[in-house]
Amino acid sequence: MDLCITLLLRWALGLVVCMMVVMVNDRNIGHACSEGERIALLKLKDAINDPNGTALPTWDSHNNNDCCDWERVICDNTTTNPRPVVTQLVLDKIRDVELANNAYWSLNASYLLPFSELQVLDLSWNYLTGVNGVIRLNNLQVLSLKGNPLTQVPSLDELPVVQMLDLSFTGLTNFHFLQEISTLSKLEVLDLGNNLLSGSLPGSIGNITSLQALSLSMNNLVGSLPTQGGLCKLKNLQHLDLSHNQFVGQIPLCFSNLTSLHVFDVAHNQFQGVFPSLFMSSLKSLSYVSLSNNYFRGSFSFSSLANHSNLEVFDLFSYNSQLKVETENPPFIPLFQLKVLRLSNCTLNEHTKGIPSFLLYQNDLRVIDLSYDSIIGRFPHLILINNTRLEVLDLGNNFLTGPLELNCTSRYQDMNTLDISHNPIKSEIPSCVGTIFQNLRVLNMSKSELHGVIPASMGHMALLMILDLSSNSLSGLLPAEFLEGVKSLEFLKLSKNNLFGPILSSKAELGQLRVLRLDNNRFTGEISDVFMNSSLLRVLDMSYNHLNGELPGWIGSFQQLSSLLLSQNNLQGVIPQELCKLNRLTYLDLSKNNFNGTLPSCFDMSKLRYLHLQGNQFSGPIPNALANSSLLLTLDLMNNKFSGEIPSWIGTFSNLRILLLKGNNLEGSIPTVMCQLRHISILDLSHNTFSGEIPSCLNDASSGLLDPLDNIIFGEYFIMFPIKFTKYISENLLHVDNGIDIQGLVSDEEQEVEFMSKSRLESYKGNILYYMSGIDLSCNMLTGAIPHQIGNLSSIHTLNLSNNHLSGPIPETFSNLKQVESLDLSHNKLVGHIPSKLVELYSLSIFSVAYNNLSGTTPETKYQFATFGESSYEGNPLLCGPPLQHSCTSISGGESVMHSDLHAEENEFRDNFMWSFAATFVVSFLGVIVIVYFNPYFVSRIFSCMYRII
Ligand SMILES: *[C@@H]1O[C@H](CO)[C@@H](O)[C@H](O)[C@H]1NC(C)=O
Ligand SMILES: *[C@@H]1O[C@H](CO)[C@@H](O)[C@H](O)[C@H]1NC(C)=O
Ligand SMILES: *[C@@H]1O[C@H](CO)[C@@H](O)[C@H](O)[C@H]1NC(C)=O
Ligand SMILES: *[C@@H]1O[C@H](CO)[C@@H](O)[C@H](O)[C@H]1NC(C)=O
Ligand SMILES: *[C@@H]1O[C@H](CO)[C@@H](O)[C@H](O)[C@H]1NC(C)=O
Repeated sequence: MDLCITLLLRWALGLVVCMMVVMVNDRNIGHACSEGERIALLKLKDAINDPNGTALPTWDSHNNNDCCDWERVICDNTTTNPRPVVTQLVLDKIRDVELANNAYWSLNASYLLPFSELQVLDLSWNYLTGVNGVIRLNNLQVLSLKGNPLTQVPSLDELPVVQMLDLSFTGLTNFHFLQEISTLSKLEVLDLGNNLLSGSLPGSIGNITSLQALSLSMNNLVGSLPTQGGLCKLKNLQHLDLSHNQFVGQIPLCFSNLTSLHVFDVAHNQFQGVFPSLFMSSLKSLSYVSLSNNYFRGSFSFSSLANHSNLEVFDLFSYNSQLKVETENPPFIPLFQLKVLRLSNCTLNEHTKGIPSFLLYQNDLRVIDLSYDSIIGRFPHLILINNTRLEVLDLGNNFLTGPLELNCTSRYQDMNTLDISHNPIKSEIPSCVGTIFQNLRVLNMSKSELHGVIPASMGHMALLMILDLSSNSLSGLLPAEFLEGVKSLEFLKLSKNNLFGPILSSKAELGQLRVLRLDNNRFTGEISDVFMNSSLLRVLDMSYNHLNGELPGWIGSFQQLSSLLLSQNNLQGVIPQELCKLNRLTYLDLSKNNFNGTLPSCFDMSKLRYLHLQGNQFSGPIPNALANSSLLLTLDLMNNKFSGEIPSWIGTFSNLRILLLKGNNLEGSIPTVMCQLRHISILDLSHNTFSGEIPSCLNDASSGLLDPLDNIIFGEYFIMFPIKFTKYISENLLHVDNGIDIQGLVSDEEQEVEFMSKSRLESYKGNILYYMSGIDLSCNMLTGAIPHQIGNLSSIHTLNLSNNHLSGPIPETFSNLKQVESLDLSHNKLVGHIPSKLVELYSLSIFSVAYNNLSGTTPETKYQFATFGESSYEGNPLLCGPPLQHSCTSISGGESVMHSDLHAEENEFRDNFMWSFAATFVVSFLGVIVIVYFNPYFVSRIFSCMYRII
């Protein structure tokens, strides 16, 4: 019995032990990772969290002993290994930002060595400055160090079988790296985009013959591509991205041999050779072609792509409109269905000038850009009807005519941008436009010869951010439904139309509005209080309307306001104290109204760059509120009733370019502090009662070129296309890879179509003022001699010192005024000879020294001086020689009195002069009517884009 029991117990015990052994074995073989790897992972976790991070909470032996279950760890459970092994570590964006802020991080390679079977290692976006030591992982196939500020790149010859290497966004600068990398002969995907690589592309890159995807996008690579070898040896290449570099020359002919190529992106370079037609037509596999922002020449027939059945994106915006693109001859029926077609600024269809007819066969288009193509014809309704998923339609800057007929029952839910600006559409805006394009964000119909009213249905465009209907012939009132519906509007430009009535309805909720330009219309009534909610407003332009009443105090609630333009209205009264709250004002134009009083003394004008108060009834001394406006570029107080002296603080306006004090009651001397205005280009103190001498130091002034800050703009914007259209293609080697979420080259931000404000350089040549400089001190009571230093103002174009009491001679130095076109010294008490060297002023077209006490001979009648008549000299009894009537021999004999029609001549001269000066002024003034449209949203987008470009 005992024996039996013992045997039974032994058997039971054996069973239990066996079961336990089996269970343990089962567990070991079926699931759990090895002890060694588990401990190694925990050490790696500590390294990542050093000193006090909290990442990877699931890497915790207590809760789960099987590290193959831990987040971001992938094991291989298919091998015949006794245990599963860690094969993938996907550790992107794992290191805390807070830690990163404290210290950049470098990882010791020894933490990785235990994972001997590792195939995929993703350490992207971790603030990693480098990997210390050598990564010796013989099975590593994928290594991503993207988005780390690397100062040190792992030694590549220790990575013999790596197939995918992502070093984009790492700040790589070392050019030799490109050569080194060529030793990785197994490499299939290589992403070096968004770095600082410079130099030219080494031929050895052609050694990586297994390469399927290569991105060198957004670097500083230069030079031309080799015409043989190099990239042409990469026969397996499917994805080639060289965009955003400075490559020059041609696309090599040997590219025709890259027969596997799907994606070909060379946008934003300096390629200027002949358009690569042969290459394009021979590569039937192409699905994505981006050639934009280059200077290709020659011609290209679209029919050669007819059989490219994979083609989805064709992007060609030419910097150089000489590229001829023909889509009609020969005619063809395409096998492709495009998603993106951009043919902009080309000579499109040189003979027919028509819209490409192959578009009739396209019904899946998302982006169409045919802007700047000089297309003639009707607005292409069919394109809209066939492509219901359109997102962007840009037909701006062509010769398209109306009518704009839209099917009011259709809906374009995806449409976010519509631009038909700069076309002679000559039509009304369809009344249902707002219901058809309900999700539009950008609508530009400026300069399209539109008439009729603004449709109320536009109030349905609840997402609209930018609306530009300027420079049309639209009339009528602004519909209340419109104003109450467009709640997302940030930029509204209705300038230069015939809109009338009161400005806005009281229920408008324009809470996002940043720029409001209603100038040059026929709006009447008082400035209504509907913008009370627009607390983000930066630019408010209602100039050139028929507004009346006083300036409302609530304008002071726009704390962000930087530009307030109300010129040419019938506004009156004093400037309200509430304006003192506008401490960001950079541009204030109240010209040509009936304002009186003075500016409130609390007015903070320290940011002001442009102040125009001309043509009002302002009185009192020049406002003290200006004393801190040291950033001023333009100060225009012309034609008011300001009195008193020029304050000495004016000398602190070291940036001032234009100072117009003409036509006031100012008195006293011209202070010598004015000489500190080193950048002044136009100085008009005429028609006041200034007395005393002209400061001799004035020559110090007028030496400045304008700084780049002046390349700034008044609320202009343009539609910026995404950096890449890769979101529209179905296959993209750089985007998708099993296991790793390689996001690709573009961030989500860029994948949207972005719209940015941008300085419009063409509107403002930086140095225009420099060349337009002038001084007008006429019609004052100035005395003393003309300082000879004025002759040093070598860039001056207009100098008017007439109608003063100036005495002494004309300085000899005036012969240095080589640019001067108009020189008026008439009606003074000047004596002595006219310097004979003045004949060397070859630019002079208006000249007068009439009514002085000059003597001696007139300048030789050659060059410009051959064109000046008697009137330039008359009123100087002691002056002789042509063109005056009396010769110099007769003058010694006695007095000769001149009889000519003095007054008529004088008036004529005066008119000429005024016109010359006025023209000068107007041009300068236009140059100055530019201000920044500082929208933080756009600016941040620009910077994020710039960052990538840089
Ligand atoms: C980590 O430590 C640093 C100083 O070493 C400290 O500034 C930081 O606040 C700490 N962070 C956390 C999450 O404790
Ligand atoms: C291997 O792992 C995958 C997921 O990682 C899982 O779906 C599969 O069931 C596992 N196979 C075995 C045999 O455990
Ligand atoms: C790599 O390319 C360079 C230049 O093209 C060549 O000289 C070198 O022999 C190549 N190396 C190998 C291993 O093929
Ligand atoms: C394509 O490659 C072959 C040899 O591989 C070469 O003979 C031919 O010239 C190449 N074509 C071009 C256009 O370079
Ligand atoms: C179009 O091409 C011309 C040169 O032919 C260039 O001056 C112009 O800037 C280009 N247009 C745009 C919008 O870039």
